[in-house]
Amino acid sequence: MHIDKYERYFMIAAAGALGLFFAALLASTFIFGVRLPDAGSFINPNRLDETAFAEPGIRDMGGGRYEAYILARMWVFETGSDEYMEMEEGYSTPVVRFPLGSVVTFNITSRDVTHGFIIERHNANIEVIPGHVGTATVTFDQPGTYFAMCHEFCGLNHHSMHFAIIVEDELGTVASSQ
Ligand code: CUA
Repeated sequence: MHIDKYERYFMIAAAGALGLFFAALLASTFIFGVRLPDAGSFINPNRLDETAFAEPGIRDMGGGRYEAYILARMWVFETGSDEYMEMEEGYSTPVVRFPLGSVVTFNITSRDVTHGFIIERHNANIEVIPGHVGTATVTFDQPGTYFAMCHEFCGLNHHSMHFAIIVEDELGTVASSQ
Protein backbone atom coordinates (compact mmCIF):
# COMPACT_ATOMS: atom_id res chain seq x y z
CA MET A 1 0.00 0.00 0.00
CA HIS A 2 1.37 3.36 -0.97
CA ILE A 3 1.27 6.06 1.67
CA ASP A 4 2.00 9.56 0.60
CA LYS A 5 5.15 11.02 2.13
CA TYR A 6 3.33 13.84 3.94
CA GLU A 7 0.60 11.47 5.09
CA ARG A 8 3.34 9.35 6.65
CA TYR A 9 4.88 12.38 8.37
CA PHE A 10 1.54 13.29 9.89
CA MET A 11 0.93 9.72 11.07
CA ILE A 12 4.32 9.67 12.74
CA ALA A 13 3.73 13.09 14.30
CA ALA A 14 0.28 12.06 15.58
CA ALA A 15 1.63 8.81 17.04
CA GLY A 16 4.52 10.75 18.59
CA ALA A 17 2.14 13.27 20.17
CA LEU A 18 0.04 10.45 21.64
CA GLY A 19 3.19 8.84 23.03
CA LEU A 20 4.24 12.17 24.50
CA PHE A 21 0.85 12.69 26.15
CA PHE A 22 0.94 9.19 27.60
CA ALA A 23 4.45 9.75 28.93
CA ALA A 24 3.30 13.04 30.50
CA LEU A 25 0.39 11.23 32.12
CA LEU A 26 2.69 8.56 33.57
CA ALA A 27 5.20 11.16 34.75
CA SER A 28 2.53 13.32 36.45
CA THR A 29 1.05 10.28 38.18
CA PHE A 30 4.15 8.42 39.30
CA ILE A 31 6.85 11.10 39.50
CA PHE A 32 4.90 14.21 40.53
CA GLY A 33 2.13 12.43 42.42
CA VAL A 34 -0.69 14.39 40.78
CA ARG A 35 -4.10 12.98 41.70
CA LEU A 36 -7.59 14.08 40.93
CA PRO A 37 -9.29 15.49 44.01
CA ASP A 38 -11.58 12.78 45.32
CA ALA A 39 -14.30 12.34 47.86
CA GLY A 40 -12.03 11.11 50.63
CA SER A 41 -14.98 9.64 52.38
CA PHE A 42 -18.72 9.73 52.49
CA ILE A 43 -20.64 11.35 55.29
CA ASN A 44 -24.28 11.76 56.18
CA PRO A 45 -25.02 15.49 55.80
CA ASN A 46 -27.94 15.16 58.20
CA ARG A 47 -25.71 13.77 60.94
CA LEU A 48 -22.75 16.12 60.83
CA ASP A 49 -23.19 16.73 64.54
CA GLU A 50 -21.87 13.22 65.14
CA THR A 51 -18.67 13.88 63.17
CA ALA A 52 -15.56 16.04 63.40
CA PHE A 53 -17.59 18.71 61.57
CA ALA A 54 -19.68 19.22 64.69
CA GLU A 55 -16.81 21.43 65.79
CA PRO A 56 -15.27 23.01 62.73
CA GLY A 57 -11.79 24.35 63.27
CA ILE A 58 -8.07 23.80 63.12
CA ARG A 59 -6.42 20.90 64.95
CA ASP A 60 -2.69 21.19 65.65
CA MET A 61 -1.24 17.75 64.92
CA GLY A 62 2.30 18.78 65.95
CA GLY A 63 5.42 19.09 63.85
CA GLY A 64 3.96 21.90 61.76
CA ARG A 65 1.04 19.80 60.59
CA TYR A 66 -2.57 20.83 60.93
CA GLU A 67 -5.94 19.29 60.18
CA ALA A 68 -8.62 21.83 59.28
CA TYR A 69 -12.28 20.85 59.42
CA ILE A 70 -14.30 23.35 57.43
CA LEU A 71 -18.07 23.24 57.09
CA ALA A 72 -19.58 25.03 54.10
CA ARG A 73 -23.16 26.26 54.09
CA MET A 74 -25.11 29.10 52.52
CA TRP A 75 -23.18 31.43 52.64
CA VAL A 76 -20.28 30.97 54.99
CA PHE A 77 -17.39 28.68 55.65
CA GLU A 78 -17.52 27.65 59.29
CA THR A 79 -13.88 27.65 60.30
CA GLY A 80 -14.20 27.62 64.08
CA SER A 81 -12.39 30.95 64.16
CA ASP A 82 -13.73 33.91 66.13
CA GLU A 83 -11.39 36.38 64.45
CA TYR A 84 -12.83 38.44 61.59
CA MET A 85 -11.46 40.80 58.97
CA GLU A 86 -13.38 43.77 57.59
CA MET A 87 -14.03 43.55 53.87
CA GLU A 88 -14.70 46.38 51.44
CA GLU A 89 -18.45 46.12 51.07
CA GLY A 90 -19.33 46.36 54.73
CA TYR A 91 -19.19 42.72 55.66
CA SER A 92 -16.51 40.76 57.42
CA THR A 93 -14.88 37.42 56.75
CA PRO A 94 -13.41 34.87 59.17
CA VAL A 95 -9.65 34.69 59.59
CA VAL A 96 -7.54 31.61 60.31
CA ARG A 97 -3.82 31.80 60.99
CA PHE A 98 -0.98 29.38 60.38
CA PRO A 99 2.75 29.70 61.08
CA LEU A 100 5.00 29.86 58.05
CA GLY A 101 5.84 26.41 56.71
CA SER A 102 2.65 24.77 57.98
CA VAL A 103 1.34 21.75 56.16
CA VAL A 104 -2.42 21.88 56.39
CA THR A 105 -4.89 19.22 55.37
CA PHE A 106 -8.28 20.75 54.67
CA ASN A 107 -11.26 18.48 55.19
CA ILE A 108 -14.38 20.09 53.91
CA THR A 109 -18.00 19.20 53.42
CA SER A 110 -21.31 20.96 52.89
CA ARG A 111 -24.35 21.15 55.09
CA ASP A 112 -26.75 22.15 52.32
CA VAL A 113 -25.99 22.65 48.63
CA THR A 114 -22.95 22.21 46.41
CA HIS A 115 -20.25 24.74 47.13
CA GLY A 116 -16.68 25.13 45.95
CA PHE A 117 -13.39 25.69 47.71
CA ILE A 118 -10.22 27.17 46.33
CA ILE A 119 -7.31 28.89 48.02
CA GLU A 120 -5.74 31.58 45.95
CA ARG A 121 -2.17 30.87 44.83
CA HIS A 122 -2.24 27.39 46.37
CA ASN A 123 -2.98 23.97 45.03
CA ALA A 124 -6.42 23.40 46.55
CA ASN A 125 -9.56 23.14 44.48
CA ILE A 126 -12.44 21.12 45.84
CA GLU A 127 -16.02 20.59 44.76
CA VAL A 128 -17.82 20.69 48.10
CA ILE A 129 -20.71 18.27 47.82
CA PRO A 130 -23.15 17.37 50.60
CA GLY A 131 -22.40 13.80 51.63
CA HIS A 132 -18.77 13.91 50.56
CA VAL A 133 -15.67 14.97 52.45
CA GLY A 134 -13.18 16.60 50.12
CA THR A 135 -9.57 16.90 51.18
CA ALA A 136 -6.55 18.84 50.03
CA THR A 137 -3.15 19.22 51.66
CA VAL A 138 -1.47 22.56 51.26
CA THR A 139 1.99 23.77 52.28
CA PHE A 140 2.10 27.43 53.24
CA ASP A 141 5.68 28.42 52.52
CA GLN A 142 5.16 32.12 51.76
CA PRO A 143 3.97 34.61 54.38
CA GLY A 144 0.89 36.54 53.34
CA THR A 145 -2.87 36.72 53.30
CA TYR A 146 -4.65 34.30 51.02
CA PHE A 147 -8.37 34.10 50.46
CA ALA A 148 -10.21 30.83 50.35
CA MET A 149 -13.46 31.16 48.47
CA CYS A 150 -16.48 29.40 47.11
CA HIS A 151 -16.26 29.04 43.34
CA GLU A 152 -19.52 27.22 42.76
CA PHE A 153 -22.58 29.43 42.44
CA CYS A 154 -24.67 28.65 45.52
CA GLY A 155 -27.24 31.38 45.69
CA LEU A 156 -27.83 34.98 46.71
CA ASN A 157 -24.67 35.62 48.71
CA HIS A 158 -22.30 33.29 46.89
CA HIS A 159 -19.96 36.23 46.29
CA SER A 160 -19.51 36.82 50.01
CA MET A 161 -18.64 33.22 50.84
CA HIS A 162 -14.96 33.25 51.71
CA PHE A 163 -12.44 33.44 54.52
CA ALA A 164 -8.89 34.66 54.92
CA ILE A 165 -5.84 32.54 55.65
CA ILE A 166 -2.98 34.49 57.19
CA VAL A 167 0.43 32.85 57.05
CA GLU A 168 2.77 34.39 59.60
CA ASP A 169 6.54 34.18 59.80
CA GLU A 170 8.34 33.48 63.11
CA LEU A 171 7.85 37.05 64.30
CA GLY A 172 4.12 36.87 63.76
CA THR A 173 4.26 39.43 60.99
CA VAL A 174 3.02 39.12 57.45
CA ALA A 175 4.95 40.24 54.40
CA SER A 176 3.34 43.27 52.87
CA SER A 177 4.36 42.47 49.32
CA GLN A 178 0.93 41.33 48.27
CU1 CUA B 1 -20.95 28.67 48.32
CU2 CUA B 1 -20.87 29.76 46.20
